[in-house]
Amino acid sequence: MQSTWIAFCFGAFFIPASLFSSGAKTENNMINDTTTYKSPYYKDNERCFKCHGQNQYEYLNENLGHNIKALMYSELIIDRDKFYKANHKDFSCIDCHSADYVNFPHNGKLRMEQMFNCLDCHGGDEKFARFNFEEIQAQYQKSVHYKLENEGFTCWKCHGPHDYRISIRNSEDIRETIVYDNNICLQCHANYDRFKLLTDREEINIVRKHDWLPNQETHFRNVRCIECHTAVSDTVLVSHLILPGAQAVKKCNECHSKNSLLMSTLYKFQSKEQRRYGFYNGIILNQSYVIGANRNEFLNLLSLVILGIVAVIVILHIYFRIIRK
Ligand code: HEC
Ligand code: HEC
Ligand code: HEC
Ligand code: HEC
Ligand code: HEC
Ligand code: HEC
Ligand code: HEC
Repeated sequence: MQSTWIAFCFGAFFIPASLFSSGAKTENNMINDTTTYKSPYYKDNERCFKCHGQNQYEYLNENLGHNIKALMYSELIIDRDKFYKANHKDFSCIDCHSADYVNFPHNGKLRMEQMFNCLDCHGGDEKFARFNFEEIQAQYQKSVHYKLENEGFTCWKCHGPHDYRISIRNSEDIRETIVYDNNICLQCHANYDRFKLLTDREEINIVRKHDWLPNQETHFRNVRCIECHTAVSDTVLVSHLILPGAQAVKKCNECHSKNSLLMSTLYKFQSKEQRRYGFYNGIILNQSYVIGANRNEFLNLLSLVILGIVAVIVILHIYFRIIRK
């Protein structure tokens, strides 16, 4: 009940965010558009999608000698569109899964199949060096979730094997990226059913845990969970070292100041441009006005000048009053 409420709240937060995002599609989206992208394995994959692509499937029951319709478990449904927009869109299902899955009913032993992890394919590969997978792995191993590996936590829990697509690196719409990245966390942190598969811990009420933060809705639309919950890193674009709650960022001036944390997290990629039209952290202004972080040096100067003039007037005034007497 509580989790549906939280999901509702965040849903409500996030709908406006998608409304804000202009019609402009990122370059990445265009390349990945299903209307232009055609997988070499499209037909092969349809062997699986005909059952896993929607909530109903049909199979020939050999004992009865005719077709049977059945409902597909919702957690086993894979969205075709998302699959063909994801990073691994040009894979065949059976590149990662056993080819025995072609047969139905599936062999029960397949449930125990060993899956590849990211580093099996990406580790030590020049082509992907810019992501620094090794360092990401090392950070993940120090993060709060790593202890849940025995319960089944892996990189795949955040990077859905059938829909993960890279976002912040190519982002032309920071708000869209914020929604995408936050939804990764909220899959579990706003859905107790998924959360409790991995731990015996009581539900953590996200809204209440953050009630010290004013305008929570605005904040969650303008920053990602990981801004506050990870250790800042120079070596990777997205820090994966998620710290325990007690070490999360709570001080307002970490962001609301000239040395805003946001410049080394959310706006890291674009942060080379430090000033624009006299504004500190000018790049943030494309999306947000962050009180304290977006002070303007000309306005600062102007206010000093005005203060100076006022002071001079006051002093002159006092001076003439004394002279008059
Ligand atoms: C005729 C329908 C049908 C076809 C075709 C089919 N599946 Fe399935 N699949 C199912 C059903 C039903 C389940 C859940 C019951 C079970 O595990 O057998 C399932 C389960 C699975 C599971 C999850 C097993 C688990 O851990 O619970 C995987 C992975 C899977 N299928 C992959 C595939 C792949 C890959 C293909 C294509 C090569 C494929 N399936 C083709 C119906 C189908
Ligand atoms: C890049 C590798 C990869 C590809 C390609 C891939 N899968 Fe998966 N799939 C996985 C992994 C890894 C898991 C286990 C996910 C987890 O542990 O959370 C999985 C899980 C599943 C499951 C179980 C339900 C779930 O989502 O956890 C089904 C069903 C499935 N895959 C079907 C398919 C079908 C159908 C295709 C092709 C359209 C496909 N997979 C392509 C890696 C892949
Ligand atoms: C079975 C091997 C395999 C596994 C497992 C795998 N990848 Fe990949 N991945 C690839 C290949 C190959 C490509 C390149 C696809 C292409 O160029 O179209 C790729 C592409 C990517 C890209 C896009 C790179 C770019 O230049 O845009 C990212 C990001 C990525 N993978 C992350 C991951 C993550 C995170 C995991 C684990 C959760 C993972 N991969 C697991 C093989 C794999
Ligand atoms: C707790 C969730 C979580 C886990 C676990 C996780 N990631 Fe990520 N990862 C993210 C988020 C959020 C992003 C940002 C996605 C975006 O905007 O592109 C990301 C981004 C990435 C990127 C792209 C970074 C770039 O430079 O563009 C790679 C590569 C990656 N993760 C690899 C991994 C690997 C490898 C693992 C396991 C060792 C892993 N991740 C585990 C949440 C997670
Ligand atoms: C697959 C589910 C899942 C995903 C996705 C996930 N988490 Fe978690 N997270 C958990 C579970 C389960 C725990 C409780 C761990 C325990 O038993 O102590 C947890 C614990 C935490 C804690 C508290 C650690 C502590 O004890 O102080 C923080 C902070 C956290 N997660 C942040 C995040 C962030 C940020 C993301 C997204 C980048 C994320 N999580 C994604 C399942 C998830
Ligand atoms: C502005 C910074 C900030 C943002 C943004 C933020 N958090 Fe937090 N979060 C905190 C702080 C600080 C705490 C510790 C609060 C306390 O214990 O008083 C916390 C607590 C938590 C906890 C409980 C940890 C525990 O051990 O009790 C979880 C889980 C969590 N946050 C997840 C998230 C998720 C998921 C998001 C994104 C939707 C998010 N946070 C966004 C700062 C933030
Ligand atoms: C992780 C960075 C971060 C932290 C920590 C943070 N803020 Fe913010 N804050 C932002 C951003 C980004 C905005 C959005 C500016 C916009 O509306 O475009 C914002 C907006 C605001 C606003 C304006 C809200 C509105 O509706 O326009 C107020 C007031 C505010 N923050 C106060 C605080 C206070 C008080 C704290 C400490 C308890 C705090 N913030 C902590 C990043 C942060």
